[in-house]
Amino acid sequence: MPDICVEHLSKSYAGTAILNDVTFTVKDKEFVTLLGPSGCGKTTTLMAIAGFQTPDSGRISCGDETFTDGRTAIPAERRNLGIVFQSYAVWPHMTVAQNVAFPLRVRKMPRRAVAARVAEVLALVELGDLAGRYPHQLSGGQQQRVALARAIGYSPSVLLLEGEGMDRGEGGRSRTSTPSCASALVTGSGSCSTRSASPRCS
Ligand SMILES: Nc1ncnc2c1ncn2[C@@H]1O[C@H](COP(=O)(O)OP(=O)(O)OP(=O)(O)O)[C@@H](O)[C@H]1O
Ligand SMILES: [Mg+2]
Repeated sequence: MPDICVEHLSKSYAGTAILNDVTFTVKDKEFVTLLGPSGCGKTTTLMAIAGFQTPDSGRISCGDETFTDGRTAIPAERRNLGIVFQSYAVWPHMTVAQNVAFPLRVRKMPRRAVAARVAEVLALVELGDLAGRYPHQLSGGQQQRVALARAIGYSPSVLLLEGEGMDRGEGGRSRTSTPSCASALVTGSGSCSTRSASPRCS
């Protein structure tokens, strides 16, 4: 729903400029891919939007809300973003259903509503039959869909999807599963994006 605006974003690590005046906008319901060679700053850009990296300068906003502008920064847990990391980051000691339920339980959703929502999103990513399995009993693509189901379960405003698998192959499936409420911003090297933006590399 809200537009994500990244304006004049810069970030250095140990004196080496990684992001140099990066500016782009992801509009409502757009699916945008950040493309670029390894090390050019795609993950750094996503992590800055997510709130796990503090930019040196620039502004990031989501709709009317300023996430960071160099003076203020909203913590990651208050940005209402769904995030699927490159490594999926599903919890190995939880079943598929427990992985998806976890963020809902943290948000104090009533038990019955959690069960209904978990069933709904697992059906959406076609994992309903595997709800009782553990991650080590799943393929890579199935684990990726667990991570996607967990990310969309609490209806985030924006989805951040990291990694090349997310924009083709299993990612093709994930695109069709993107909830209608969300914009999506993806990093990777695929070619099926609606629109591409490249971090300006130094
Ligand atoms: N914490 C850190 N300290 C120092 N350098 C870092 C740190 N994190 C990332 N870098 C460097 O910043 C650059 C950009 O990293 P980033 O992870 O954003 O790249 P990327 O575009 O996502 O690459 P890939 O396609 O390989 O995932 C890389 O050269 C990386 O080595
Ligand atoms: Mg990366």
